[in-house]
Amino acid sequence: MTEEKKRPAAKTTAQQAAPLGEELTARLFAISREYCEAEGGCHGPDHTERVYNLCLHIGRLMGARLDILAAAALLHDIGRRHETLSQGRICHAQKSAELARAILAGLGFSAEMEGAILHCIEAHRYRNDKTPESLEAKILFDADKLDSIGAIGIGRAFLFAGQVGARLHNQDVDVDSTSSYTSEDTAYREFLVKLCKVKGKMLTPEGKRLAAERHEFMELFFKRLEKEIHGSPAPQQAGGQP
Ligand SMILES: [Fe+2]
Ligand SMILES: [Fe+2]
Repeated sequence: MTEEKKRPAAKTTAQQAAPLGEELTARLFAISREYCEAEGGCHGPDHTERVYNLCLHIGRLMGARLDILAAAALLHDIGRRHETLSQGRICHAQKSAELARAILAGLGFSAEMEGAILHCIEAHRYRNDKTPESLEAKILFDADKLDSIGAIGIGRAFLFAGQVGARLHNQDVDVDSTSSYTSEDTAYREFLVKLCKVKGKMLTPEGKRLAAERHEFMELFFKRLEKEIHGSPAPQQAGGQP
């Protein structure tokens, strides 16, 4: 056996510092994966892991309860499938909290922790009527929204546009006269309708800082995309002919 093969598998970033302990964290990751796997690239298990890592990053800076944050991050989107299948009639934040209640009870979480975790999950979506009240709920809210902007946000927006058969780009799109799930539902339309507003919704100082940086990158990206699509000529050499 080579040296390489004798070495135990490297731990993921998430496992290296697990506030809930390695075993419970692995269990919750597995449960979350089961629920989210079918959601593909936009809301699948990779999204959950990124939100989990962002939560721990912001949570450490702000002295938050990392155990509450960890469980809330891992279960925050487990009801997403119900929203997708009901075409938006079911609120996934509420459904996730409902499903999480039974999971947490089965894993022996205290009533105090269960309440705190469920509040974070219920309030993580800014389109429902629940507002994040606790520090942990604010952090989960920010982490979840941060994962919808920046380079990741652009990637997710194009993935979604591809799923609905949208065009690559149209800078002149009129957001008011076009609809979701059509060929005009491009990544740029998503930027105009939703992504460009995310930085103004952040609730924590670190969330604001990261969102500003990610927003700047999205603006640069769409400017560049527009330039390439319209074939802006490269700057001419001195004395060159057009
Ligand atoms: Fe969500
Ligand atoms: Fe999410």
